[in-house]
Amino acid sequence: MSAKHDNVKPLKGEGQQRLVIDQQGLDAARRSLDEGAVTPSYGPWREDIVKLLNDALATELVCVLRYKRHYFTAQGLASPKIADEFLVHAQEEEAHGDQIAERIVQLGGEPDFSPATLVQRSHADYDESSELKSMIRTNLVAERIAIEAYTQMIALIGDKDSTTRRILEGILAQEQEHADELKDWLVD
Ligand SMILES: [Fe+2]
Ligand SMILES: [Fe+2]
Repeated sequence: MSAKHDNVKPLKGEGQQRLVIDQQGLDAARRSLDEGAVTPSYGPWREDIVKLLNDALATELVCVLRYKRHYFTAQGLASPKIADEFLVHAQEEEAHGDQIAERIVQLGGEPDFSPATLVQRSHADYDESSELKSMIRTNLVAERIAIEAYTQMIALIGDKDSTTRRILEGILAQEQEHADELKDWLVD
């Protein structure tokens, strides 16, 4: 134990590990300015996190396309209010995609917007249903898939990248609202 901490009495059961800043990490942060927001404590996880985020980005983009398709084709159907809500969801999914792409760039990665591989990379499916109930059901399935994927990502990331985790927690809360609304419309 360094002399600096001699006045701090260890708690009973506390091991040798102390909550002290790693000076080597701070020194390394001083260098490598081209790494931007990414500092040494990201360790080996950065690539995995960027990959997880790119899959989530593909999912959000497919969800934007599906909700837009449903918004425009549901216009003539019985419930214009639900069609309008499809548009609101499309806009919110787009905002999620933007948040994720921005975070990928902060982590030094490249956001993958390639339309050629979008559907394969997305967790959720595109859909061309023509009947309102079927649209609602398909969107509910997609939201439930998104909820499961974000929940798993948050657990995987844990304390490895708290900024990404907070972004994902915010998105997850909104996906849960979406699923809740869709469930209500399904029984209406
Ligand atoms: Fe979303
Ligand atoms: Fe959603």
